[in-house]
Amino acid sequence: MPEWTRRAVLRLAWVGIVAAGALTIKPLAEYLTSNEDRVRSPLVFYDKPLDENSDWQYTSASRVWVKRDTSGIMALVATCTHLGCEVNYHPEKKEWLCPCHGSIYDSEGRPISGPAPKAMTRVAVERKADGSLIINTSKQVGLDAWL
Ligand code: FES
Repeated sequence: MPEWTRRAVLRLAWVGIVAAGALTIKPLAEYLTSNEDRVRSPLVFYDKPLDENSDWQYTSASRVWVKRDTSGIMALVATCTHLGCEVNYHPEKKEWLCPCHGSIYDSEGRPISGPAPKAMTRVAVERKADGSLIINTSKQVGLDAWL
């Protein structure tokens, strides 16, 4: 049985403090360098070709999708209107499904079933001279707004 001298206990405590400090450095550095709290631009650029009657296309921005059909181009933010979970598009059913509490939206983002109280948010789309799109996620538009 080891002898617990005062020196051995202090040495063990010191090793514990150094180990705890080492384990804290990485998460602390990740927290301090995180981009999550930084202000992001509300503008999303989309420069891929968008065929007429395309289905929903995912953009480079989280939760922002675009689509073109015979009425024009529209964009929506795939956030559930119940409690804000990210909604997933299922092209085979032409529906949006919320994984949190089961709300289902039709292809245009209108709620079909579940606790979602209203349609997903449509946002403004503008076309630049080169044909690419600028989606303004801070500018909400109605369900009948098409570019
Ligand atoms: S957050 Fe989507 S149904 Fe509750």
